[in-house]
Amino acid sequence: TEQTYKLTYSTMFDPPASLHERFDAALGEARATMGAEHAMRVGAHAVTADDCFELRSPIDRELLLGRFQNGTAAHAGQAVRAAREAFPAWSHTPWRERVAILRRAAALIEERVWAMSACLSIEVGKNRMESLGEVQETADLIAWYCDRMEENEGFDRRLPNDPLTGFTSHNRTRLRPYGVWAVIAPFNFPFALAGGPVGAALVTGNTAVFKTASDTALSGTLLMQAFRDAGLPDGVLNHVTGPGSTIGEALASHPDVAGITFTGSAQVGMSIAREFAGGRWPRPCIAEMGGKNAAIVSDRADLERAAAGIVRSAFGLQGQKCSACSRVYVQRGAAAELRDRLVALTDAIKVGDPTLRENWMGPVINRSARERFRRAVDAIGEAGTILAGGRLLTEGALERGWFVAPTVAAAPRDHYVWREEQFAPLVLIDEVESVHEAIALANASDYGLTAGFYGGADEIDGFLDRIEAGVVYVNRPQGATTGAWPGYQPFGGWKASGSTGKAIGSFWYLPLYMREQSQTVVD
Ligand code: ALA
Repeated sequence: TEQTYKLTYSTMFDPPASLHERFDAALGEARATMGAEHAMRVGAHAVTADDCFELRSPIDRELLLGRFQNGTAAHAGQAVRAAREAFPAWSHTPWRERVAILRRAAALIEERVWAMSACLSIEVGKNRMESLGEVQETADLIAWYCDRMEENEGFDRRLPNDPLTGFTSHNRTRLRPYGVWAVIAPFNFPFALAGGPVGAALVTGNTAVFKTASDTALSGTLLMQAFRDAGLPDGVLNHVTGPGSTIGEALASHPDVAGITFTGSAQVGMSIAREFAGGRWPRPCIAEMGGKNAAIVSDRADLERAAAGIVRSAFGLQGQKCSACSRVYVQRGAAAELRDRLVALTDAIKVGDPTLRENWMGPVINRSARERFRRAVDAIGEAGTILAGGRLLTEGALERGWFVAPTVAAAPRDHYVWREEQFAPLVLIDEVESVHEAIALANASDYGLTAGFYGGADEIDGFLDRIEAGVVYVNRPQGATTGAWPGYQPFGGWKASGSTGKAIGSFWYLPLYMREQSQTVVD
């Protein structure tokens, strides 16, 4: 009999043997389905474009994942029209019915966790535990939003009669959906950071157009299928694939798009936000963007714990998380030991085909990601010091994918690598005199997503009070800056990391997808 798992963040650190067997079986099944052509989904129709693009695995360029439609601005327009037509009926569907459908979607995703995470692992180069974790997180996010609808009784509240009017008035305030929502998803979490916002938009009564990242069109297609199978009426959710610049621009400039959730780089996010702001009235834009996340280590830190947390956060998913740790500020007295520990742990990381149990790190997503890494390490080689890694990996089978070595380095404080997100397995380390100085340096960044601190008990409040970041962790061995889980760590950035100051998987997230209407009806 098959054992079923409720995956949690802690299962990821101590997986039972049967989990590995089940995942290996799912990998075989996933490989057998690869290479097919997939359509987009607009309204009731499977839609094809004039041409397709071929998607190959970053682990092995020979492995064809599938052929996907090269959607155009016209397809984005069709999808918006379909979503607009579906909006009246969906927004008037009682919220409890919407919750029931979204709960079915969450349950289907959980049921399909093996098949989905096997495809995800091959498509993104994500290791098996992180892939399983992401798919489970997607289901958990959607279910969390359903819980919030119920807890808030559909965001519909009665207010007292106004005694001054002399009439009996029935007062009420309701949060109501905006209309068509565009969800533009990133490659690094193609399930969670698509399914989460799609779930939020739909459960609150919006309809949506979902654009998957081109590198993860397969995950996007599987996610779309799960939402359809859950029983969403046609047109409530539409899925387009194709070049991000064309489709993102078409959605952001479309007058019938009422709101956008974008997750990706600050550069693209800011350009979408600017374009979207050019409409006839202000429209909500939830932009979840990058990070340049710092870990601060004081003289009083447990350095074994700090090193483990930093390495997990710097190199998990090859550093391609907005939450990745890319800066370390260590107090002078702890610096030599921390550096030695980081180098030793980094040198011991197994890099290779991440669908295999033994490999913790896989490849970066594509050629241009590897080029960005190469440019950064070359630049550091000239101006600073590479302490570990610092090279492309091309030995044997690695030559077929986009593999690079996890890298620890030092560079002058004014070097661009300290400022600009690299989205690569590269962490910089610098020595400071005091925790105070470290916090000032950590805050001297446009970004403010996550931050970590390792130190003594009486240093913690000072860090928490002064650090400018939306998600902060103290003395955490499982990750200095990464590893937020719905219901435990609401996840959202400050400054250039996020546009709303409200986090995904938080109590305050769903209201972003609705506008308030106060209603007074007099007898
Ligand atoms: N939930 C992911 C993390 O915290 C983004 O790393």
